[in-house]
Amino acid sequence: MLRDGHGRRASDLRVSLTDRCNLRCSYCMPPEGLEWLPKPELLTDDEVVRLVGVGVRDLGITEVRYTGGEPLLRRGLVDIVARTAALDPAPELSLTTNGIGLARLAAPLRAAGLARVNVSLDTLDRDVFRKLAHRDRLTDVLDGLEAAASAGLTPVKVNAVLMRGVNDDEAVPLLRYCLERGYEARFIEQMPLDAQHGWQRATMVTADDVHARLAEAFTLTPLPSADRGSAPAERFAVEGGGLRGGVGIIASVTRPFCGACDRVRLTADGQVRNCLFAREESDLRAALRGGADDAEIAERWAAAVRGKKAGHGIDDPSFLQPDRPMSAIGG
Ligand code: 5AD
Ligand code: SF4
Repeated sequence: MLRDGHGRRASDLRVSLTDRCNLRCSYCMPPEGLEWLPKPELLTDDEVVRLVGVGVRDLGITEVRYTGGEPLLRRGLVDIVARTAALDPAPELSLTTNGIGLARLAAPLRAAGLARVNVSLDTLDRDVFRKLAHRDRLTDVLDGLEAAASAGLTPVKVNAVLMRGVNDDEAVPLLRYCLERGYEARFIEQMPLDAQHGWQRATMVTADDVHARLAEAFTLTPLPSADRGSAPAERFAVEGGGLRGGVGIIASVTRPFCGACDRVRLTADGQVRNCLFAREESDLRAALRGGADDAEIAERWAAAVRGKKAGHGIDDPSFLQPDRPMSAIGG
């Protein structure tokens, strides 16, 4: 089992499959992109499958989420999903994606054993999309969402990050769009993870701001906090304008949920991170390539989780952003 010194157990593994992306969302990457990891440093498909296998067999991992960068850019993705779905015990598999390419891949991924997807969608306005993500791909994202729902990758969740003066007027339209189609919208507070260090606490759109905006058009009823468990979203039943459903608001900064965190992360180059905001990593790739057996890998991994800090401390004056941007860590 992966236990830390604060009484938490990590059972939810986030695996970044590439640090590359075909968008440049401003809260994540500069327009010119980043220096990508060299290919030889990336875990191979076989290495990913082996590490996930150690996680589920020896360390109590029950859920695996593939992320990036943009995981649909990873050529072996469908195969990795199929092989990790076949592990015993089988983990629950999900994917966080920007949706580009999902129109083509949703059905094959479902057939390979993927259970669900989270798709990032921050705006419904083509010009805002182009400005925010520096690519003219809104239609691809919307098509991808539709394909995910038809393929049964449900519940389809939509992740939105609102930024002041950019898309903070879109909370209501985004939620309406999701309710009309049966997607679950989740508004995530922007975290200081962008490579450009543009995040500012003072201008951040908070969970309370989002709630206030949504409350102008919908009635929000909090769902009992027992439902929240270790899932970070504060969930609400919503009703308004002839629509009803649910919405999640994720107050990662203003109401951190570190105390209930059950996550551990594996970067595309094979480093274990016990937190998005960790300042240390543990090199499983070197162990793998140095000929370590499964027991040695499991031990190294367990040691990396043991040292997990109690919280991210974003609101602490001494807070330092992690050295790697979100795209290289995995969401
Ligand atoms: N703050 C909050 N959410 C972020 N994401 C990417 N960068 C940030 C950030 N700085 C979101 C993306 C995607 C998921 C991987 O995390 O929108 O949905
Ligand atoms: Fe790409 Fe996701 Fe970063 Fe946007 S947030 S640039 S989609 S990795």
